[in-house]
Amino acid sequence: MRVLTGIQASGKLHIGNYFGAMKPMISLQETSELYTFIANYHSLTTSKSAELLRNYTIEAAIDYLSMGLDPEKATFWVQSDVPEVLELYWILSKFTPMGLLERAHSYKDKVAKGIHPNHALFSYPVLMAADILLLDTQKVPVGKDQIQHVEMTRDIAIKFNNEYGEVFTLPEHVVEENVATIPGIDGEKMSKSYDNTIELFMEEKALQKKCNKIVSSSTPMGEPLEWDGDNIYSIASLFLDDEGRRELQERYKSGKEGYGHFKKYLKELIWEEFAPAREKREYYLNHLDEVHDILALGAAKARKIAGAKMEAVREAVGIYS
Ligand code: ADP
Ligand code: TRP
Repeated sequence: MRVLTGIQASGKLHIGNYFGAMKPMISLQETSELYTFIANYHSLTTSKSAELLRNYTIEAAIDYLSMGLDPEKATFWVQSDVPEVLELYWILSKFTPMGLLERAHSYKDKVAKGIHPNHALFSYPVLMAADILLLDTQKVPVGKDQIQHVEMTRDIAIKFNNEYGEVFTLPEHVVEENVATIPGIDGEKMSKSYDNTIELFMEEKALQKKCNKIVSSSTPMGEPLEWDGDNIYSIASLFLDDEGRRELQERYKSGKEGYGHFKKYLKELIWEEFAPAREKREYYLNHLDEVHDILALGAAKARKIAGAKMEAVREAVGIYS
C-alpha cells in the first residue's frame, strides 16, 4: 500500500503536532510503503522571508528524523527537489475547473479572514493533487481540513483519465478518527496560533516554566483534586499507559499533593519521553551533511517514480519530447 503525506514546515513543533500528526504518521513506516516530503512549495504561499522558509524546511526534516522517521523504511525528501511536480501541476491545471477551486473551504476561509488571495493560494489544491498523483499514491492520511483537497485530487484525476486513459491512480483519504485534540496550557486546542503550546524541544528550565503556566482549578492544597478534565492530567496522560494513568489519578485523589507537584511531574514526563529524540536532534544539527544526504537520496527515489509518470503524462497529452 503506497501512502503519501506532506508536511507543512511552518515553525516549531509542539506536543499537539506530535500526538496528532507526527507520531501516527511515523508509525505508518512499519506497515506501509511510506512516502513523505516537506511541502516547501506549499509553505511558500504563507512564507514571511526566504531565511525563515529555508530554516523551517531543514528544521522540519531534522525534527522528523529525530522523532524516528527512518529513511531506511520511508522515502523522505523536500518537495522542491522533485521538480516534476511543478510540470504536473501545470498540466493538471487544464483539468481543474475554476468552480472546483472556488469551492475549496480552506481558500474560502482564508479569504473570509481578510487575506488577499494570490494565485498560489487559489491553486494550492492543484499542487497538492500533483504531489499525490505523481507518485501513484493509494492512501493519503490527512486531518479533517484536508479531506476536500484529496477529493479534489480525485476529481481532477478522473477528468484526466476520462479524456486520456487510465494514467492516474485514484487516491483515497484516510482520517485517523481516534486522534484526540490535544489541549494547550489554557485548555483550548493546542495551536501555535493561540500561543498556548508546549514545544517539543525546549530547554529544561523553559519547559518547567511552560508547565507552570498550565491553567488548573483553584482547589487549595491538602484537598483531593479532580483529575478528570484537569489540563495537567490531560497532557500527562498522553505519556502514560493505563497503569500510569491510574496511579496519577490516585495521587490526585489522595489530597497529599498540589498542582505544583503535578506540574513538576509533567515536565519530567515530557523531558524523559523526548530524551532520545533530543540526542538525535543534537546529532543531526551537528551533522547537517547527513540530513542533506538523506533528503537527496529520498528525492532520487521519488524522482524515479515521478520521471516515469511524467513520461506517461506527456505522451498522453501530446507534449513534445
Ligand atoms: P497549529 O494549529 O499549531 O498551526 P498545524 O495546523 O500546523 O498546527 O497542524 C499540523 C498538524 O498537527 C495537523 O495534522 C494537525 O491536525 C495536528 N495538530 C495540531 N494541533 C493539534 C492538537 N492540538 N491536537 C491534535 N492534533 C493537532
Ligand atoms: N496541504 C497539506 C497540509 O496543509 C500539506 C500537503 C501538501 C499534503 N501536499 C500534500 C498532504 C500531499 C498530503 C498529500 O497539511
